[in-house]
Amino acid sequence: MNILLVSAEIEPFAKTGGLADVCATLPREWQRLGQNPIVVMPKYGFINVEKWGFRPTYLTLIVPMGYWTEFAHIWEGTLPNSNVPVYLIEHNHYFDRPGIYGEANEYPDNNRRFIFLARAAFEVAKALDFTPDIIHAHDFHTAFAMPFLKAIYRKEHRFSKTAGVFTIHNLAYQGRYEPHSTMEFSTFGMKEFYPGSWFEFYGSVNFMKVGIMFADKITTVSPTYAREIRYPYYGEGLHDVLNYRGADLIGVLNGVYYNDWDPNVDRHIYKNYNLDSLFVKNEVKRSFLYENGLNDYDNLDKPLIGMVSRLTEQKGIDLVRYKIEQYLGEGAFRFALLGSGNKNDENFFVYLKWKYPKDALIQIGYSDLLSHRIIAASDFFLMPSRFEPCGLTQMYSMKYGTIPIVRQTGGLADTVFEYNYATGEGNGFNFYQYNADDMAWAIRRALSIYNNQPHWDIIRQNAMKMDFSSSKTAMEYLKVFTWALEKV
Ligand code: ADP
Ligand code: GLC
Repeated sequence: MNILLVSAEIEPFAKTGGLADVCATLPREWQRLGQNPIVVMPKYGFINVEKWGFRPTYLTLIVPMGYWTEFAHIWEGTLPNSNVPVYLIEHNHYFDRPGIYGEANEYPDNNRRFIFLARAAFEVAKALDFTPDIIHAHDFHTAFAMPFLKAIYRKEHRFSKTAGVFTIHNLAYQGRYEPHSTMEFSTFGMKEFYPGSWFEFYGSVNFMKVGIMFADKITTVSPTYAREIRYPYYGEGLHDVLNYRGADLIGVLNGVYYNDWDPNVDRHIYKNYNLDSLFVKNEVKRSFLYENGLNDYDNLDKPLIGMVSRLTEQKGIDLVRYKIEQYLGEGAFRFALLGSGNKNDENFFVYLKWKYPKDALIQIGYSDLLSHRIIAASDFFLMPSRFEPCGLTQMYSMKYGTIPIVRQTGGLADTVFEYNYATGEGNGFNFYQYNADDMAWAIRRALSIYNNQPHWDIIRQNAMKMDFSSSKTAMEYLKVFTWALEKV
């Protein structure tokens, strides 16, 4: 199958979260499975084209926008450790900026930038003489690829048998914009914008709704999230729209690219280990504590709880804030957090580090290296999310024998199962109600298994044996693509 994947984020070139990991992983796996994927994304100002080996192609794109056309260039490279072609769209006015979505604030022209990206994807296919079977768009940024396919490009021979698949990674970000300019940029015009039209949602153009309505198949990133979003609590206002397309909405659990996330080969960590050398994990933890100044030798056996997370409401940071001082005050565990986002949360964690310098390691910012080290060194990984479409870090943690403590929602509910002392089954600890006391109780249960043999070894082995391999995910998508093609 010829698959054109278009996304605003692809790891390692541009990333704010799991979207980038997934969009880099799937095409590699499809290629391994004998398919023919290409990847399209913007050439952002911060992408180091030399480092990643991108070259200009000298192809010029002519992209219709509104009643005019715009021009762009294409750069060509590959996804690291693969031959998957990556095409960067160079349009400096839109993309030569320090941010993906914004800096202090969202860029005010994001509707225009992302409509351009979605439209340019088709022009890239034409310029390369690539005939896609599937256009695979991700999240609201590229949602307009779906109506562009259905209403414009299907009429061209090249795209007449192409199916459109739209993947929702996070319903909380929908892309709602002012209709007049947005409809003009899209070329559809205000005639297509009326109450109840596929573009309209409560007076705005809602990109997410547009993607959902025009796609041949809609996927989201875990089976539980696919069910949850059909109800008001998780639907973010779009539950009716999702129910309308319910027959075409499928949950495909994200997978892990174990080439990057396996303690046996990870080059970022102090020493490699695997299921048969779990004792080495203690050395990894010790060296991590030592490096980060938490080298209080009397206390090397204290459990370490880690978090690597965007600091947003989604991630349940308010629950952590509510309880963490009590725990650190009691000396119950050490806490390592890497994250950035909400300024108020950032300030709180900086204060926490000042107050508990021996027990709290806080790094505000973004660091790939430290994310691997925290995940490897920690005994437990905390993810009390309010909602979680899938979540990758709990799956990464399990491979490292780091036990997840999670709220039972979305992909967390599909991957983390409470340990059962009687049967020795289970890979973590979970709680259901979004409430700090329930989280605290799950943490207590987790702490009581620490060094409690044989259970401590059994639960870590159970976690490490889980197989969330991205090749399975990639195969599931191929099935969805086949179903989507049946609709064309
Ligand atoms: P989300 O996409 O909602 O942020 P996921 O768990 O799916 O959640 O993916 C998060 C990805 O971003 C993981 O690869 C994680 O390691 C990474 N990540 C999040 N915050 C940071 C950070 N501060 N530094 C480095 N990596 C981070
Ligand atoms: C989103 C979600 C996260 C998911 C990721 C990749 O950012 O918040 O749960 O794992 O996308 O699909």
